[in-house]
Amino acid sequence: MAYKGVVSVTTENLIEKLSDTHTLTLDEYAYLIENRDENAARMLAERAVKIRKEIYGTDVFVRGLIEISNICKNDCLYCGIRKSNSSCERYRLSADEILDCADEGYKLGFRTFVLQGGEDGYYTDDLLEGIIKEIKQKYPDCAVTLSLGERSRESYKRLFDAGADRYLLRHETADKEHYEKLHPSEMSFENRMRCLKNLREIGYQVGCGFMVGSPYQTARTIAEDLKFIEEFKPDMCGIGPFVPHGATPFANEKGGTVELTCYLLSIIRLIYPPVLLPATTALGTIHPLGREMGIQSGANVVMPNLSPTAVRKKYELYDNKICTGEESAQCVACLKQRMKSIGYEIVTDRGDIRK
Ligand code: 5AD
Ligand code: FES
Repeated sequence: MAYKGVVSVTTENLIEKLSDTHTLTLDEYAYLIENRDENAARMLAERAVKIRKEIYGTDVFVRGLIEISNICKNDCLYCGIRKSNSSCERYRLSADEILDCADEGYKLGFRTFVLQGGEDGYYTDDLLEGIIKEIKQKYPDCAVTLSLGERSRESYKRLFDAGADRYLLRHETADKEHYEKLHPSEMSFENRMRCLKNLREIGYQVGCGFMVGSPYQTARTIAEDLKFIEEFKPDMCGIGPFVPHGATPFANEKGGTVELTCYLLSIIRLIYPPVLLPATTALGTIHPLGREMGIQSGANVVMPNLSPTAVRKKYELYDNKICTGEESAQCVACLKQRMKSIGYEIVTDRGDIRK
């Protein structure tokens, strides 16, 4: 590819440009993805880790993930808890069970709780307000993060006013046509983007994100994801490999790779240096050292599971998910050790973004 008609482009000079300016064109992002090799990956990871250490040192933030319900009114084609999956054993946690998880998490040192679940109508604004207020009252030094899918602006506002600090809603893909290939026609790209905008305007710290290697994804759609991240500047960005689930329409599709996920983690760190970037459970699922590799590519967050062990296996978004047999305390100890083994340290504060 000719670059400004003068020098011919190399991944090296695009990486230089990205590190210096934190922006590339769509074509340049696509080029960087299509022409990646080990050398480019090494160069990106070095720069990503360097800038991450300037902002966060070797700290790794932890988020206690409480999977409150696997009941979902949606039917996303990739997701194991989609409503059409009749082989999924459904559960929902009561307010008391959620609070018990938070109590246990607090004792283990967590100062952020993520309430994640399918789009389950049981969790009305009234019910959630009560849960959020109770957690915040009991643990004022903690952040409450919600990850409950698409809701109305009014609902987001009520939950924010009740004390929720952060909201995670992956955009899934920034390409409308691609979005429509991953979701049934009842869901819309426009509504997804509107939700993210509403969350931001209401005052939440907002997380977006996408799966790496999802069906129909191309270098072009990833370039659009990166451009979206560059412009939206999310406080958090969750990216992990797509892992096929056997009881979904995508059962026989190929999964994403550790290699591309780590490559993109480094790029995202360079696009927006302060971003909170988890080394996801999905990454740990497809490789025994996936999360360590994610951190070594520029990630700075891990999200151990705090859900009651009785329900863990049921919150199966994808096959072979790790940490479904372990107690919360075991997950924490395991991650501490894993982070220590690569020269990083888990810290227990709220872990806010350092903008
Ligand atoms: N593989 C990987 N990630 C998945 N998610 C849902 N299904 C899968 C899958 N099969 C991700 C989606 C969702 C988040 C909670 O989990 O990106 O937003
Ligand atoms: Fe859950 Fe290692 S993080 S067992």
